[in-house]
This record gives sequence, structure tokens and C-alpha cells, in this order.
Amino acid sequence: MSRTLKVPGIAYGGDYNPEQWPEEVWAEDVRLMREAGVNMVSVNIFAWALLEPSEGTYDFSRLDRILALLHENGIAADLATPTAAPPAWFFRAHPEALPVDKDGRTLSYGSRQTFCPSSPAYREAALRIARVLGERYADHPAVVMWHVHNEYGCHNGECYCDTSAAAFRVWLRKKYGDDLAALNDAWGTTFWSQWYYDWDEIIPPRATGAVPNPTHQLDWRRFCSDELLSLLKAEREVLLEAAPDTPATTNFMVMYNFDKLDYWRWAPELDVVSNDHYLQSTDPESEIDIALSGDLVRSLAGGAPWLLMEHSTGAVNWQPVNRAKTAGELRRNALAHVARGADGIAYFQWRAAKAGAEQWHSAMLPHAGTDSQIWRDVVALGADLGSLAEVRGSRGVAEVAVVWDWNAWWALELPSQPSAEVRFQGLIRTWYEPLWRSGVAVDFVRPDADLSAYKLVLAPSLYLVDEAGKANLTDFASGGGVLAVGFHSGAVDENCHIRLGGYPGAFREALGVRTDELFPLLPGDAVELSDGGTATLWSERVALAGAEAVTSYTSGPLTGTPAVTRHTYGSGTTWYVATLPDPTTLASLLSRIREEAGVEPVRTTPEGVEAVLRRGPDADYLFLINHGEEDADVEVAPRAVELLTGEKIEDGVPARVAAGGVAVVREPR
Ligand code: GLA
Repeated sequence: MSRTLKVPGIAYGGDYNPEQWPEEVWAEDVRLMREAGVNMVSVNIFAWALLEPSEGTYDFSRLDRILALLHENGIAADLATPTAAPPAWFFRAHPEALPVDKDGRTLSYGSRQTFCPSSPAYREAALRIARVLGERYADHPAVVMWHVHNEYGCHNGECYCDTSAAAFRVWLRKKYGDDLAALNDAWGTTFWSQWYYDWDEIIPPRATGAVPNPTHQLDWRRFCSDELLSLLKAEREVLLEAAPDTPATTNFMVMYNFDKLDYWRWAPELDVVSNDHYLQSTDPESEIDIALSGDLVRSLAGGAPWLLMEHSTGAVNWQPVNRAKTAGELRRNALAHVARGADGIAYFQWRAAKAGAEQWHSAMLPHAGTDSQIWRDVVALGADLGSLAEVRGSRGVAEVAVVWDWNAWWALELPSQPSAEVRFQGLIRTWYEPLWRSGVAVDFVRPDADLSAYKLVLAPSLYLVDEAGKANLTDFASGGGVLAVGFHSGAVDENCHIRLGGYPGAFREALGVRTDELFPLLPGDAVELSDGGTATLWSERVALAGAEAVTSYTSGPLTGTPAVTRHTYGSGTTWYVATLPDPTTLASLLSRIREEAGVEPVRTTPEGVEAVLRRGPDADYLFLINHGEEDADVEVAPRAVELLTGEKIEDGVPARVAAGGVAVVREPR
């Protein structure tokens, strides 16, 4: 039996932490939840200290009452294991479970998620509470899903203590088949006299005098991700034993520079993929970040609908200056996540806290109470989501895939690279932006993914690629696809060893180019391109080896050298973008590549109007989000209906999207 979320329509709600409030408040909470159309809340996320007042003694009475109240009011519970915040008594009994940072400093308890992921005492305590909770509520009618832990690795992605060191060695022995020579070879330990003669000599890459070994660091990142993943799996296992039919999720943190976990390895462990997304106050176009993260999460979910487990109604509290949302932004944000495949929209948190570390974080029910703009927006959004029930289960359709790989990200940003200015997420966003602006649907893929559904594959930044990834991408091109690769890709193999003979190593042959030397540009420097554009960040001395130059440098030390190349490879085409062209130049280049690949935008829209499609069994759902300041008209198919208003759109008449507004158009097929 497949474990799916049994909440009708689009789920709507947030983190509900009633333990923060006296019980008299709860009745008002559920009354207001009903008023807002809330149908699912996540509970118990930070309740461990109240549930288990001392080791092995439990008090479930409060949670019993909360779940009963929710159920009586028809609100489903996404019941969390409270393992992200162990109680103080736990750390007093097990001080060795506190994490140690790179500099050898042991952190104290007093916030949350301050535990060592490899601590046996933590694991035992976490699994114990997960088991007791799972068994107690397995058949509770309110419980529709397990919310395992919370944002794994948010605060403790890496722990450098001796326990972690021992666990790292176990992980390494497994990876290298107990063969220390294989590890020495993979890590290149002849360099700087790092050769290991005994497994016990190996420690985490703690703060050291000079640059640590790159492969050591890369294996460490892999280990840290796997170590937390093993906690997820263990909790999941315990919950499955207790409740075999209840789906489980854990909330990911795709984007905002969280790079601790290789979510490609995590997603298959979940029945429902969910994500938390917050806006960066300094990002003037955070709608692009929402789109990118939504596409990535949907791709992690294998195209299946996912849940937006957290975002904010207004300002957060953890940035230097926390900006409020502008008029209509709450609605546009939420519906943009639905457009990208979310079948549920939730916030952190239901009621704004009076006390505690997040007292200045916005919520669905603000400090000001119901006489507030946020509350009115929250209620209106509930009605909007109610009218989108039929969208549930529909899926995105894309002909373009963008390669995203955590190993490549980690390796690219190791210290002592040609340029510390080259950042993975920034490069992906730079390539993604023009696609977003022209309304092109995009999936994200691993380098070794099945690419048969795509016409165009883009690898903006793939510094590290293994043989399987290399073969997959180049076979895609030789088999008739269009492949565009960004600079400094294919440079190293999975052990971070440079692929010799010229750059871009793995892709040299497929791209028909050979670079003998890299010329990264200093911050502020720009060089001119023969097509009239400029380029920054990076350049390299590319020689053609079968490819043609599309653009060359017309200034700087590489004048006359190709900057962008195109190559016929097998029955496909490959492009090498060996620099970072300015946004307009990159946009026209990517348009040309896309047109040659035969990829069309979802819909042609006026500037500022985002068009996204979800495909259902009988109809397409066209989401039109107007980020501009003028009303816009967009052509739609015959017999269309705008779902948010319920109005039919006359054949031949375009759909109107108000300035700052959203339309969701059902187009029957
Ligand atoms: C994260 C956490 C929440 C809360 C929010 C605040 O997403 O999961 O508990 O701290 O951040 O933005």
C-alpha cells in the first residue's frame, strides 16, 4: 500500500505549538483555524521536554488533548517526533552528546538541535521517544503523517567530537572496503606527508594550520550528510513498525545556502517530500528563488506533489534586517509554491510567540490578533487554496533539465580553488533567471538521472563529476540532445582528482574544446565579448578542438580566444559557456540554445508575469502570477475557467491577471 497524505484538496496550515500557550487559548486557536480554512497542522515539533519530564517518564496528557481537539474540529495532525530539541536533563546526563565545532569548542545546550549526530546516547533517546510516540498515536484518527525531526542539520550539520571521529572512520572503512591503501590513494595523501598507516590516525578535518586535504573534506561532507540520514532512517523505521500505513516526511531546507545534506540521497527515504522556504530580505526578486526552490523540491520528489512545510506570512527574525511582505506578496508567494507542485502550504507558525527565541517571527495569527492585514490575508489564502482542490496531484512538465549535484557544490567551494568568488548556488541562479523570465519550465536532475524526457540539459556548474555522470550527460548529447555546460565543469573526478590533459576534463571531447590555463577574473574586472556583451568572474584559454567559437573575448589577456563555443557531437549539440556573460548576453545565449533545442516557453506573457503549468489527468492548470504593477492579459485555451474566482473565460478572450495578482486557469485537454 502506498503511503500518501490523506488530507483532501490542498493542505493548509502551519506549525502549531499550543504548548507555548495556556490551554484557554486553544479553543480560540481551533476556531480561528476553521475560519481560515486550515486543515492540517504540524504539532509536537519542540515538545520533548514537556512529553518526557525525566528519562523514561512520560506525560502525554497535553498532547492527547491537543490531538483530540484538532480531531473534533476536523483538523488533521502532522505529528512530529520531537527529536530536534532534546531536553536539558538529557544533556546533564549525557554531556558527551553535545556537539563540538571545528575549533574544538563544545557547544552548550540552551537552544535547539545542539546534539552530536553520532552520539549513541542521543540516538537511543531519540528512538525511544519516537517509538513511544509512534505506538501511542499509531491509530489516532487525527494523525495523517509523521513529521520526523525538524530541519535535519540546520544547526548541527557537522560535529567534530571524538565520537564523530570514530563514526567517520567506520563510514570510511565501509566506503573503502577496509582498504587503507585505497583511502590513501583516493585522498592523495602522499601530498604534504598525510599518509595514514592506521585507521585510528584519521580524524575529522578539524581546524588545522594550513589547508586540509580536499578529498578528506569532501568525504567528511558526505559522511556528515549520511550520518544525519541514518538518524532519519532509524526514526522512520521505528515509526513504520508502529504505524505501517502512515506516511512520513521531514522538512528539507532547499536553498538559502543550506548545503549540509545531499537531498538526492534523502528524498527516496520519504513518503512525502516537504520543504521550508524563506525569503532573503536583500533579494529584490525573491520570486525567482521561490520558483527555483520549488522546481528543485519537485524534482527531488521525482515529480510528485510535495508540501511546503514552512514559510513566513511576513518578516522572519533571523536576518540582519527582516523585511515585511508587501501587499499581495503573501498570496503570490504561497500560490507560486503551489504552481511549482506543492499540494500543501504551511507556515512557521500558527500563533506568533510571546516569548522565546522567535518572538519576533511573523505567524498566521500575529501579535496584533485578527484585526491585522496578515490575518486577513491568511483567511483569504485559505479560501484561495480551497478553490484549488482539483489541482491536487497534478504535475509539472518540463523539457529542460538543470543538473544539480551536492558533491559538485561541496567540491567547488572547498578552499584553495582558482577563485573563491565562484559559488554554486549563485551560478545556478544566474542561469535559471533568464529561463524563469522567459517562462521555460525546468526540472533539476542528478548527473546520472534518466534524461530521456528532456530536449535540453544545462549544467551551469558541475566542477566534480564521476564517470557515470560524465557518460550520462555526454551520451545524452551524442544521442541527439542539446547539452550546455558552464565553465570549470568536469574539472575533477569523484575523489576531487583533477582530470588531466586539459580542462574542462570530463567534457573536453563532448564539447570539442581544450583549455590549457584558467584566467579567473578579479572582483570588479570585466572583459568584452565579440557579441557586444561583457563577461566577469571567469575566463580560460580555450582552444577549439572541433567546436566553433560563438563569442570570443575582444579585450583582456585572452583577446581572440573563444568565450562561448558550439559543437556538433554525435547527433546532438554541445555548448561550452567558458565565462560568465552579463545577464542580457547570457539570456540571449540561453534563448538561442533553447530555440535550437526546440523548447518553447509555457506561455508567452507580458514582462513580469510568471506562467507555470501543472498537468492533471483531464486538464492543465495554468498559474499566472503577476509580479508587475500593471494588469496583464494572457491568452488561454478554449473552455477555460479561472479557479480562484470560479469565472468562465469566454473563448478567444484572454485571462486577465491584476497587477500583483494571481490567476489559476483550468484549461481542459
Ligand atoms: C525554521 C524552523 C522553524 C523556525 C523557522 C523560523 O524553518 O524549522 O522552527 O525556526 O525556521 O524561520
